[in-house]
Amino acid sequence: MTVIAARARLLLGAACAVVIAVSSVAVATLAHADLTGPPGTTLKAAAERSGRYFGAAMGRDRLTDNGFLTIANREFDMMTAVNEMKPDATEPNRGQFDFRAGDAIYNWATQRGMRFRGHTLAWHAQQPRFWGSLSGSALRQAMIDHINGVMAHYKGKLYAWDVVNEAFAENGSRRSSNLQATGNDWIEAAFRAARAADPGVQLCYNDYNIENWTYAKTQGVYNMIRDFKARGVPIDCVGLQTHFTGGSSLPGNFQQTLSSFAALGVDVALTEADVTNASSSQYQGLTQACMNVPRCVGITTWGIRDSDSWRGNENPLLFDRNSNPKPAYTSVLNALNAASTTVPGTSTPPSTPPSTPPSTPPSTPPSTPPVTGQPGACTATYRTASTWNGGYQGEVTVANNGSAALTGWTVQLTLAGGQTVANVWNGINTGTSGTISVRNAAYNGSVGANASTSFGFLVNGSTGTAPGSLTCTSP
Ligand code: XIL
Repeated sequence: MTVIAARARLLLGAACAVVIAVSSVAVATLAHADLTGPPGTTLKAAAERSGRYFGAAMGRDRLTDNGFLTIANREFDMMTAVNEMKPDATEPNRGQFDFRAGDAIYNWATQRGMRFRGHTLAWHAQQPRFWGSLSGSALRQAMIDHINGVMAHYKGKLYAWDVVNEAFAENGSRRSSNLQATGNDWIEAAFRAARAADPGVQLCYNDYNIENWTYAKTQGVYNMIRDFKARGVPIDCVGLQTHFTGGSSLPGNFQQTLSSFAALGVDVALTEADVTNASSSQYQGLTQACMNVPRCVGITTWGIRDSDSWRGNENPLLFDRNSNPKPAYTSVLNALNAASTTVPGTSTPPSTPPSTPPSTPPSTPPSTPPVTGQPGACTATYRTASTWNGGYQGEVTVANNGSAALTGWTVQLTLAGGQTVANVWNGINTGTSGTISVRNAAYNGSVGANASTSFGFLVNGSTGTAPGSLTCTSP
């Protein structure tokens, strides 16, 4: 997982008006996850225990609101601009970019050590006026130009971009819009342009009403992400807006939705959370669902106090109008502190690049005989979770058959010719084709007597032959 945030600023030489230094230094700012540490007493501290973040959204007008700024600085470690990085704000006229408002928020937040989510590059709403007079290939080109222009400005500085926002209709088909009318491939065109413009930033698809796993819109988005992963369209994350306002509420299967998206090999995040009357049980439930899914990387609330909310009459946020934390604040804090999974890659020592799988098996000291494991202590069972044209998703259950707890496990399996592993979750792989091995992640190595755990993976290539020759060993 690439988790970078740049700390470099553009230094404008005032005298000669020349950009002096643009070396964007990518700094991994994610806290080292440590579930054994003391409970966090702020939202961000509690989230960071498990390698996650807790974010908020703010408009430029909040930069003079000390009540807001005090809470933002104390409780949050991720920031999003409510409106200031949307297409109408950043490119009001063709080729004329205006980053003043977005930069003001960005600078305030990152100077206080926060990371930043960019929102958003392509959307049916809040478009520049000039997009309204374009269509077809001209509009498509304007969208690409917009992505290039905005992403060039923020290159190396953001954690993630919501590349495309709200492109699906409630019935699971594409929402009709001027962008959709440029051709069904407009979304992947946006993501490909985005990857090329800034290869270091996480690229997200963001939408609302995709929290209920059985809802048609959720399935529509899921199928698009699965298709993108299968065809190699660059996408790193799915943002679930989590507006449990305006008539929506927390579905009982929310965690299943999060884990199902994550199983496709993307991060998931709750990007605009708010809940009617700040129901403590719904806030607790949405937080816990995220904490239970390793690749749920963080939660953002859409504002901080009820007076900041776009749905202020529903009083949906964690702080009241006097800046006091509401009961839901405590339920969220407790749920963050109770996390039992960490974000993959955040538990390894920070000096180890988390995204690079080891190219050779972990070396053992030469004097030590190789660890052969105890055949019979664990067994590995494979099942195909889903297939599509050009790939499949597999799942391996690691069961402990012994009476003593396992302290780690390694599964070997052999892929058919032409098959390549694209992603592994809940495990760390060595090799991507032929015979590969997958060992436990930091958080699922200990398996109690008669208990089991599982890992999943995505394979590109022929779907006719399932992996074979499974073996499981434990130290
Ligand atoms: C909202 C802002 O909060 C309002 O200030 C603005 O008038 C309209 O947009 N989904 C999104 C956000 O992705 O961009 C929206 O933000 C809320 C719904």
